Amino acid sequence: MPTPTLNAIQGESNALLRNRLLFEALRDDAGRSTLYAQLKQSGFPPLPFTSVMRRGGKDADKAWPDVRAWLVTSAQDVSKVLRQGSVKPYAQLESGGSFMLGQDELSQGELCPHRVQRNHALCALKFDEAERLNCAREAVRRAMVLPTKTYHFDLVADVAEQAALRYIALLFGLTAKAHVYLQLGMRAGYTRLTFQIIGRHFLPDDGLAPSDSKNAVKIRDDLYADILGAAHDTLRKEWWDENLLTHRNASLRLAADYPQDDEMLRIVISGLMVGTVGNVTSAIANTIDYFFCERSHGVRLIDMAVLYARANNGEALRGMIEHAMRYRPPAPFLTRTAKHDMLLGSGKDRVQVRAGDELVLAMGADLPIDPELMFGGALNDGSYVHSCVGRHLAWPIIEETVRSVLLLPGLSQRIDPANNLPMPLAKSWGAICDEFPLQYQRDRRLNQQPLLFVLKIKEPVAENARKLMLLTKAGAAVVERALEEAHNVHFAWFLLVENCTHLAFFTVYDGDFDAYVEHFALRVPLFDEQFKYLVDAPPTPIQLYPKEFVQTIKDHNRTALVDYFYSAYPTACVADIQNLGLGPR
Ligand code: HEM
Repeated sequence: MPTPTLNAIQGESNALLRNRLLFEALRDDAGRSTLYAQLKQSGFPPLPFTSVMRRGGKDADKAWPDVRAWLVTSAQDVSKVLRQGSVKPYAQLESGGSFMLGQDELSQGELCPHRVQRNHALCALKFDEAERLNCAREAVRRAMVLPTKTYHFDLVADVAEQAALRYIALLFGLTAKAHVYLQLGMRAGYTRLTFQIIGRHFLPDDGLAPSDSKNAVKIRDDLYADILGAAHDTLRKEWWDENLLTHRNASLRLAADYPQDDEMLRIVISGLMVGTVGNVTSAIANTIDYFFCERSHGVRLIDMAVLYARANNGEALRGMIEHAMRYRPPAPFLTRTAKHDMLLGSGKDRVQVRAGDELVLAMGADLPIDPELMFGGALNDGSYVHSCVGRHLAWPIIEETVRSVLLLPGLSQRIDPANNLPMPLAKSWGAICDEFPLQYQRDRRLNQQPLLFVLKIKEPVAENARKLMLLTKAGAAVVERALEEAHNVHFAWFLLVENCTHLAFFTVYDGDFDAYVEHFALRVPLFDEQFKYLVDAPPTPIQLYPKEFVQTIKDHNRTALVDYFYSAYPTACVADIQNLGLGPR
């Protein structure tokens, strides 16, 4: 089978063009799988390229681009590099190499700074199964409140990231007040981390505001204050910040390890949280995307997964999630610098990588990835110095979130009206999940909807407002009857708002918007009269122009802030309530 993408990259002698070709192939999922399939066919040769990163210090004046880099693709090479490479690239992050991920093991034994910090983290993250599950369930419950109010939601930002943030808040003892800057801080942190892993080889900067900008400093300061508050147990807790842990939270435990060092304490806590949010979000988004994209024996995986979720078959669903993650590793790239000259590749493709060369580990090339390698190697194999210390925390939140999403009735991908195709999972640099638009049949979970229709009153405003008030008084009986006969309106009322310059009509109704509004177009002549005094009114009489009436209402309907809408009886319709004998007498 021909390997055109790989040939084009390997055949390109211009360093910058080769860099571009490689980036184009890696940055989107389809291009990347094509390249990986061709690499597999060619026996996974290490792929050399020139990074566009700039050197500083004594090398600052060297010709650009000049940094030798390799895309490492076979599982064997990835595993070798993980064990022998240097984590120097992570030392460029804000923590300046004081967080464990940026520290090479300089000495053997228990006093090695990396090992000390890693052991602290391993102890601090020891939660028993029930605690993890409780926190995961509560985190998902909190995260799903808003997405289930709407027909459309973004799986990445509205669900996965929210669940991960709320989960770490519970495990690390942060309060709900920290949520916004926790979210901003974690996003920036994960973007910086991923830029260091992959972005820097292809792009000049990470696109974030400089870390010393006013906004960035404010977010960081607020977040650090809360982290230290959690660690020293000085945060004011409200009733909604309930503690679900039976043991001390991770921040309190770490505080005992760094009694005199708040700076180190906040570096360790925020370092642990950043990886969690980004990787958990990626695992959830990639898993659901994989279910939508793939089939087994002709059956869509998403349909199978929904069946398992509905049947409450946790084991089968877990198997499917693990399978998806092995084909779509949540951390799709890792980074290392070669510590010393080393041989990579095999047979005719054996190459000598020189000390100082940059290495990009393509975790998703040699598939399915070994479940341990997905987390940077087995925990009990000390040669994987930086393997993940939090994998046991990842599983419950991934499973709970995926399960809850699968249980949404009629779950499907949103269709792009421009090309009639499902909207894809969008990523930055082929690594950070940015957006995955999904939809579900909201009315099967929440049947009622609010209408908040607001129109400006014509000049002379005060006089017309008075007329509207008189009209509404006179027409109230007509409105009442039309509403009663509609059998789909729970509540309705008019208001003069914005200092009596606008008329507002608020209702809570069941089901379809168009059918509901058209009913009023045909049944309530009062609107014809009201529109005489309102700006942007549709043509009247409304009975002759029902579609225009519907359009006007749509144009001036104000959606609830962040779509939040509460109902005490979400699936009951007016008829259900009336059938209980609770209707008008
Ligand atoms: C799906 C979720 C997760 C995935 C896929 C994942 C993946 C990984 C990978 C691949 C590494 C190795 C990095 C490298 O060698 O360059 C790693 C390291 C690490 N992970 Fe995770 N991780 C996840 C969740 C978590 C969680 C929940 C935590 C903690 C709360 C965590 C904390 C860490 C830490 C501290 C390291 C560095 C350890 C060291 O340097 O010794 N991770 N993770």
